[in-house]
Order: sequence, then structure tokens, then C-alpha cells
Amino acid sequence: MSKTEPLKFVHHPHPSPLPADQRAALLKNPGFGRVFTDHMVTIRYHEKRGWHDARIEPRAPIPMDPAAAVLHYAQEVFEGLKAYRTADGGATLFRPDENARRFQQSAERLAMPSLPVPLFLESIDRLVSLDRAWIPDGDGSLYLRPFMFANEVFLGVKPSSDYLYVVIASSVGAYFKTDAPAVSVWVSEEFTRAAPGGTGAAKCGGNYAASLLAQAEAIRHGCDQVVFLDAVERRWVEELGGMNVFFVLDDGTMVTPPLGGTILPGITRASLLTLAKDKAIKVREEPYSIDQWRADAASGRLREAFACGTAAVVTPIGTVRSKDGEFKIGNGGPGTRTEELKAALVDIQRGRAADKHGWIHKVF
Ligand code: PLP
Ligand code: COI
Repeated sequence: MSKTEPLKFVHHPHPSPLPADQRAALLKNPGFGRVFTDHMVTIRYHEKRGWHDARIEPRAPIPMDPAAAVLHYAQEVFEGLKAYRTADGGATLFRPDENARRFQQSAERLAMPSLPVPLFLESIDRLVSLDRAWIPDGDGSLYLRPFMFANEVFLGVKPSSDYLYVVIASSVGAYFKTDAPAVSVWVSEEFTRAAPGGTGAAKCGGNYAASLLAQAEAIRHGCDQVVFLDAVERRWVEELGGMNVFFVLDDGTMVTPPLGGTILPGITRASLLTLAKDKAIKVREEPYSIDQWRADAASGRLREAFACGTAAVVTPIGTVRSKDGEFKIGNGGPGTRTEELKAALVDIQRGRAADKHGWIHKVF
């Protein structure tokens, strides 16, 4: 296969997909990231052959050599996006082209090859189309996890010559297990997530590995998520372990930390910025410090704060805890602005509101 010929997917449908009654039982309360569909996509890359050997086949363990580069040097990137079931029984994706582009940017930062956008989109479409019965009803969705890793059998430290791109799908409900109306967050003062010049803006597994100790500390302090501060001054709020953050002030304006290379450029974040603009809500992308957060919560200037991301959707933040104590935000539950923006986003994602920005991609 030359690098320019379009790649043809070979289909190997599962000989014995999970029976419908067993699938239905799993979809009743799937949680997040534990229930997987029948199939997966794989595409290989070699520096001499380019992208080749595209398959859709039964989901199964991947044989790997113990010297595969990813296991040693963590050369890996991934994405996260959701497929939704529409009222007419169809399936849609939300801005998958943005995930495709971010996947390319993440790959570039990790010295990995660029997967063409049409190939990314086709891989997702094919998997959703084949496994559409796994999209839960109601508030659930099918979480797609495309990822790519270094597969060269070599212990030298260099960009791999071989890669494997894989897409798996997981039927999911809410990301947070809590029944509380808002989540609590722990401010990590000891550990940072990303430094200038590092990989903070890339969606690579290493960023999450580096966040785990801080996230474990958050859990130990009874919090749902960790909040990271900037690595230079240890002052500016950056983002949560797996989501971006917005603040709603008493004059109706909002603030969100700017993209400066150390936080993930969230597609939910970008979409909320557009939706806020549609509603003539002013949002400033500017640094917001932990001291300001504390002071604004105490004075009442801060009305609401929320986390946002594909997994978390829009989740209100009710409590902020740190070594210095804790403070509460607003009434401890979802504020009206948080609810309004969440509804605007979710209604578009679920096909209940007009898609005037062209964000919805139909899967056939
Ligand atoms: N920040 C981090 C660290 C994330 O893992 C995510 C989730 O993907 C986000 C932000 C939100 O990004 P998106 O809205 O594209 O899902
Ligand atoms: C996502 O929202 O897609 C993420 O990657 C976040 C992760 C914590 C599940």
C-alpha cells in the first residue's frame, strides 16, 4: 500500500457478539469506562510504509513485545469523544473533526506520525456504526477512545518507527459517581501537571500518569478531583486532572484560564465559549489565581464554578479544599448559569436544539 492510496478497512465482524439480553443488563448502569463493545479498530503505521492494515475486528487483547517502546518511554497519545443516540434512533458525534485535529497536534508534540483527519473520522464512524446497539438510552452515551502508541521493539530512546492506532468504545453513564449536586476539588500545592515547554497541551498518557499521585491525594482528602496550579508561580489555576474550569462572577461575566501550552485545549471549553458568545455572556480568558478564587468565594463575587470536558460534560464545583482549609461556592449546588450553559450544550449534542454551528456529525 503506497502512502497516497486510500486505505481500505478490512471487516472481521465478531463471530459471537454479546447476546442482546446480556448487553442490556450491562447498559442499565454502566458507570464510566468499564463496559466495552464487541469490536475495535486497528491501523498500523511504519515509517517506510505509512498507514496500512486498517481493520475492524472483535475487541481482544493486543499481543505486544515486552520491549515495545511505549512500555518504556510512554510515547502514546489518545482522544475522548462521545456518540449519542438520537430520538429517531440514529447516532451522532459531537465535533469529531476537532478531536481528529487535536490527535494530530498531540502526536506532533510526542514526535509521532500524523493520522489523516479523514482516516480518524472513518475509524470512529465505522466502529460506532457497527456497535451502535451499545449506545445506552437516556443520559448515557458511547465513549470512543482512539489512541496510538509506539510499537517498535527497541530500547534506544528515539521516536519509534512503528505505531499502532486503536479505537475502542465504552458504554458510559456519568463520570462522577457522587450523588452530590456538585463535586469537590482538592488544590494540589505540591504537585504540578505541566510546565511551560512540556506536554500539557497534548493529550498523552504521560500527563495522566503524572496526575495520579495528586488525584490520589485529592481522594484522600475526600475530594472528587484535583485542581492543578501553574508550575512556575504555583498561583494560577490551570485545570482539573481531566477537565477544564470556568468561574461565574456576580456581574454575569465568566473567567476561564487561557490556553498557554500547559492546559488541554478542551473541545467542551471551546464550545462553551462559543455558546456563551451566542448568549452575549462575556467570558474572559485570563489567569485566575487560587487566592482570588478564595477571596471571591468569600466576598460573594464568585457565584458559580464548573468543570467541563467530554467525560464530565458540565459539572458544578461546590467545595474547594486545600492544606489551608476549605471554601464553598454559591449555594453548594448547580448555579443558574452553569445549568443554562450545560443545557445549551447537551441539547445540541442530543439533537434537541438546532445545530447552528455545524457541530453534529451523523453516523450512518
Ligand atoms: N483537560 C484535561 C486534562 C482533560 O483530560 C480533558 C478531557 O478530555 C479536558 C480538559 C476537556 O477536554 P474535552 O472538552 O475536549 O473533552
Ligand atoms: C475526557 O473527558 O475525554 C477525558 O479524557 C477525561 C478523562 C479523565 C476520562
